[in-house]
Amino acid sequence: MTGTPCLRLRDLSFSYPDGQPALAGVSCDVAEGETVALIGPNGAGKSTLMLHLNGILRGAGTVEVCALPLNEKNLREIRRLVGLVFEDPNDQLFMPTVFDDVAFGALNLGLPESEARARTEAALQAVGMSAFAHRPPYHLSLGQRKRVALATVLVMDCRLLALDDPTGGLDPAGREDFLALLASLPQTMFLATHDLEMVWDMCDRVVLMEKGQVVTQGETRVVLSEEGLLRDHGLRLPPQARV
Ligand SMILES: Nc1ncnc2c1ncn2[C@@H]1O[C@H](COP(=O)(O)OP(=O)(O)OP(=O)(O)O)[C@@H](O)[C@H]1O
Ligand SMILES: [Mg+2]
Repeated sequence: MTGTPCLRLRDLSFSYPDGQPALAGVSCDVAEGETVALIGPNGAGKSTLMLHLNGILRGAGTVEVCALPLNEKNLREIRRLVGLVFEDPNDQLFMPTVFDDVAFGALNLGLPESEARARTEAALQAVGMSAFAHRPPYHLSLGQRKRVALATVLVMDCRLLALDDPTGGLDPAGREDFLALLASLPQTMFLATHDLEMVWDMCDRVVLMEKGQVVTQGETRVVLSEEGLLRDHGLRLPPQARV
């Protein structure tokens, strides 16, 4: 890997306030322009790791985004650079309308109202949700809410898209549509997922975690072809690897 990574994690460790350990010395990088998958069984620590990328959770170790260390001084800029989409879109959407939810991020950047409006319209258009702008988010289907949740971060013109379980709960057609949308975006991506078919098709590299630690990381086709390794960590070969 050459140049400064878009995301650099070193020795991240974290336990929840109830004492539950969730991350134990995680180090990995995502290079500019890469799409990297974060895989591992339920409870591996994927969501916990994602919540560290923009400082929602803060553990020991270092997080750097575009060479900026995550600290109080850089927090605001890092929250603009990292577009974090939660596992559950209901955690992301809280305004009375889809438009307000997406505009919230743009207004929060301090943009003038006319520019915030233009960016909101562009983000809704990018995710194919312009026709839903004046609907309440809680009246939308899960797939529609996932698209709106993505728009709430695209509106900030982020550099790294960090998506937690982007295809979870989508029907096959909705999944294909959502993946086509992701493939059309220019951002560097870090995707926490159980969808190894998506990983095979879209991701350059894979980081495999279990019990808060990185078990292995490497090129997608190498990691996802190791049947024994995947089985040992509760995962199965994707159909594309069964040749
Ligand atoms: N709010 C919390 N308080 C205490 N423990 C938590 C909390 N959230 C998660 N954990 C624990 O932290 C560990 C990692 O959980 P995490 O949600 O990060 O896993 P995950 O890899 O995202 O799993 P999944 O595939 O089910 O989404 C688990 O042991 C979990 O029980
Ligand atoms: Mg999770």
